[in-house]
Amino acid sequence: MERLRGFVEEHRKPIAPYSREPYIGDVKAGKNSPIYNAHSYHTKVPPEGIEPFIKHYTEEGDLVLDPFCGSGMTGVAALRSGRIPILIDLSPAATFIAYNYCTPVDAGKFETESKRILDKVRKEMDWLYETRCRRCGSKAVVEYIIWSDEFECPRCGERFLLWDVALDDGKVNRNFTCPQCKKELKKQDCKRTDSKPVKVNYTCSRCKRREDDVSEFDLERIKEIERRWRRIYDEKLPSDSDGFWPTKEDEKPL
Ligand SMILES: C[S@@+](CC[C@H](N)C(=O)[O-])C[C@H]1O[C@@H](n2cnc3c(N)ncnc32)[C@H](O)[C@@H]1O
Ligand SMILES: [Zn+2]
Ligand SMILES: [Zn+2]
Repeated sequence: MERLRGFVEEHRKPIAPYSREPYIGDVKAGKNSPIYNAHSYHTKVPPEGIEPFIKHYTEEGDLVLDPFCGSGMTGVAALRSGRIPILIDLSPAATFIAYNYCTPVDAGKFETESKRILDKVRKEMDWLYETRCRRCGSKAVVEYIIWSDEFECPRCGERFLLWDVALDDGKVNRNFTCPQCKKELKKQDCKRTDSKPVKVNYTCSRCKRREDDVSEFDLERIKEIERRWRRIYDEKLPSDSDGFWPTKEDEKPL
């Protein structure tokens, strides 16, 4: 708190009368810039969407406070606009991400170091992200896998994937029908029994980014990952004595 007080004292301007018309310009911001993609965060806002507001409502050199900063995109927008951000968040993960987004680094050193680390872990980690391109058959890199919850119908006991019964034009419907007995259902009516992979999004060096149904290859790979994880869990991880790690009796470490 003392440091914050000192920081504000150092950068504050004398209080002066303030008035602004509401901002009425168009704001366009994509969620795919390198800055945006450098680290994910829930409800993350692209800095390009914040910058026009900061520029409109504040002057260069002003302090900009975001007490719910998340990944710090207000800070990025403020720095780009010549303002001085103060970022606060309840979550230590958020302040860590925000701090690192807003602290200048030597770009050359950062690149060299990132490459060194990636090269070091690549041999060990590559297989975790491996799939096969459905179009040309080449080895491809998994970007992400979409998993769906599996539910049980309370009337007939049929198990089904939410993805199969509730997806409609990219959105998940609140109401759906049991594929077996046709009862009208909501998620809260059903017991969740499992979750299963349904789609794989990947990059092929020839065909670029694609999304396809999960293949046998993917299912086998996921099984292998779980097998190996189970082995590490059983043989190498510390016991549950501090209560931090799930106990073996829980049987659901993942
Ligand atoms: C909607 S997110 C902000 C995302 C941010 N706009 C970005 O681009 O990453 C809201 C943030 O508020 C934080 N938060 C919630 N309650 C809080 C509190 N009482 N004090 C400080 N931060 C809080 C959460 O941890 C979360 O990171
Ligand atoms: Zn391909
Ligand atoms: Zn049913």
